[in-house]
Formats: sequence, structure tokens, C-alpha cells
Amino acid sequence: MAILVTGGAGYIGSHTCVQLISQGYKVVVVDNLSNSNIESLNRVRELTDTEIPFYKIDLLDRKSLEKVFEEHHINAVIHFAGLKAVGESVSRPLNYYYNNVAGTFVLCEVMEKYNIRKVVFSSSATVYGNPKTVPITEEEPLCATNPYGQTKLMIEQVFRTLYECDARWSVALLRYFNPIGAHISGRIGEDPTGLPNNLMPYISQVAIGKLEQLKVFGDDYETVDGTGVRDYIHVMDLANGHIKALEYLFGTTGVEAFNLGTGNGYSVLQMVKAFEEATGKKVKYSIAPRRPGDIGECYADSTKAKKELGWVAEKGIEEMCRDTWRWQLSNPNGYKLDQVHT
Ligand code: NAD
Ligand code: UFG
Repeated sequence: MAILVTGGAGYIGSHTCVQLISQGYKVVVVDNLSNSNIESLNRVRELTDTEIPFYKIDLLDRKSLEKVFEEHHINAVIHFAGLKAVGESVSRPLNYYYNNVAGTFVLCEVMEKYNIRKVVFSSSATVYGNPKTVPITEEEPLCATNPYGQTKLMIEQVFRTLYECDARWSVALLRYFNPIGAHISGRIGEDPTGLPNNLMPYISQVAIGKLEQLKVFGDDYETVDGTGVRDYIHVMDLANGHIKALEYLFGTTGVEAFNLGTGNGYSVLQMVKAFEEATGKKVKYSIAPRRPGDIGECYADSTKAKKELGWVAEKGIEEMCRDTWRWQLSNPNGYKLDQVHT
């Protein structure tokens, strides 16, 4: 069974490739490397001892994408490729709409041409906007608070429409909460470009001395200690969720959304403490104003994924911190030092 993984050189995509191969799937990767380094795939090849066909292609390049479908008998697609920085999406909205939404249009058209209608899509908890209640179920009203979130909502709608017009489509919309951690080997992990936007990479770069201190964005939320609460999920658990979703797709048609989270919320200060305990490193921090657009509290009810996909997150916060730190320690500059050109 061959799976086309768009964005497979990225953070979640590379970890998912490892799990797919370990479960016996053949993997074909398409990525334009706009936010990743080919070294990640080299390491996936090394970890799995498997050759992975790779195409440096932009999803908007229809001709090149068709060539991939000509050259491989693809059975289903996992669609990670997209731009994901919330702040950047506010300053470059058209770029986000074009890349994420139009890229998905082209992918779907090419899939239809080759008679493939099974796809797992990377959605996000951001589609819940500022949720009215926690834990968040899939029934929570949808709302986007920035262009990045809008692209996720629009793409979800595109898949719903495709199914309404052609009942052969089979789509899993996976709404990720906050993925952190790395493969246990320390060979692949999250490698943000420039200053990290997200909490965990920021914490680990403070711990290793690349950044001076963490700014905690707000301590006046209505949460356990006033700092923002999120549902952090180990990237390997998330990767396994994609395998379960694929298995599900092969037995059904339709469009279903699934929350992938642990169901546990941790505040920023609880994360700092957990990281310090797991790694023995001190993380210096100061309290700063709230980050515009942030919400106070967000964590998942993943009962539906448990019931329908047979998936639950298994790894706890300590393992998430330890694995992040192992990756950071053994790759202080991410993939950059080992840059290899294709
Ligand atoms: P990532 O940036 O590491 O991976 C995305 C990959 O897609 C990158 O390798 C990038 O080069 C590639 N890409 C982007 N646009 C492309 C295009 N037009 N054509 C070909 N390749 C393209 O991000 P990630 O953290 O692995 O996230 C994967 C997906 O999950 C994204 O769609 C993201 O929006 C979604 N998501 C991520 C998070 C998170 O916190 N990491 C949370 C929720 C949802
Ligand atoms: N935070 C800090 N300091 C930092 C970075 C983050 O205090 O330097 C705080 C934030 O205010 C928030 C928490 O840490 O309370 C988590 O922030 P992240 O930026 O790591 O994650 P978000 O929940 O804001 O957003 C992430 C992704 C989005 C995605 C969302 C839901 O960046 O793309 O999870 O999946 F939509």
C-alpha cells in the first residue's frame, strides 16, 4: 500500500513517515522544502533503513504533481503540506490562502484525475477559535481568529463539499492540539526557522543557552496559575493517529473530524516546571503581556478518536520533555549543520 505524504519533510510529516514505514506502508514524499530541510528525510531513511522516493515539488505545480501519480500507484494521501505560522498569516494572508487552500485544490484535482479519494488532512484545534467550553468536542462551533485558521476551516469545507458531490470521497480531518516532542532516537525533531513561535522549542532553546529567557505571554488568564493552558501531545502519538485514520478510511466513505489530543491541559508555568524536572535544566523566564490573539485555555475531548479510530495518546508530559531535550541536545542547530543538497 503506497501513501503519498505531502509535507513529509516537515516536523509531523517526518515522524509520520517513520511510523508508516514501520507499519509496512510504502511512502512517497512531496515537499517544496519551504519550511524544512531534506536532511530530515535522510534521517527517516536512516532510521527505517528504507529508500523513500522524494519529489521537491510545490503542490501548486500541477504537472509535476501528476508525474508523481504517474510514477507510483498511490492508494491514499496524507496531506500535511501547508504554511503554519499564525503571526505570518496575519501579515501575508494571501500567501496563506494561496499556498494552503489553492495547494489543496490542485492536490484534490490531481487525486480525482487518478481516481484516489482517500485523504487524511492536517487540521488544527485552531478551528475552534476561542472555545466556549473545555474539554473541546468535535461539536464545538467552528471559528477562525486569523488567516491561518481560516485556511484550515476553508479546506475542511472543501472536503465536505467534495463528499457531498461525490460520495466516493473518504476524508479524515485530524484536528491536532499542540504537538511537541521528538523521535526517541533524537535523530528527527522540530527544527523551527529563526526565533521559535511555539512554547516548547522556545523553552528548549533557552535551556541550551541559545535564547536568554522565556517570555511567558500573560499571567492573568482564568487558569490554574493565570498562564495559558494547552493540550500538549507527543508527535509520535500524533503520527500513530494518522495510521489509525488511514486504516479507518479504507473501510468507509464520508468526511469525519477527529480531535487528537491527550485531554490534559498544562499551563505555561507547569510546562516550564515539567521540562526542568525531566531534564535537570533551569529555564529562566519572565512574565510578559498577553500575546495578541491567544486564548486562555484549550484542551481536547478525544473520545471520538478513541471510539471510532481506536486511538489514544499514550505518552505523558515527562516523555515529551525528555524527547524534546534529547533532540535539542544532539542537534543544537537543528538539521542545519548536516545540510545535504539533493
Ligand atoms: P512543517 O512546516 O514542519 O511541515 C509542513 C511541510 O509542508 C514543510 O516541510 C513545508 O516545506 C511543506 N510545504 C508547505 N507548503 C508547501 C507546498 N505548497 N508544496 C509542498 N510542500 C509544502 O509543519 P508541521 O508542524 O509538520 O505541520 C504539518 C501540518 O500540520 C501543517 O498543515 C500544519 O498547519 C498542521 N498543524 C500543525 C500544528 C503544529 O503545532 N505543528 C498544529 C496543528 C496543525
Ligand atoms: N507561550 C509563551 N511564550 C512563548 C510561546 C508561547 O508564553 O514564547 C504560551 C502561549 O501564550 C500559549 C502557550 O504558550 O499560552 C502555547 O503557545 P504555542 O505558540 O506553543 O501554541 P498555540 O496553542 O498558541 O498554537 C499552536 C500552533 C497553532 C495551532 C494551535 C492549535 O502554533 O498553529 O497550537 O493546534 F493552531
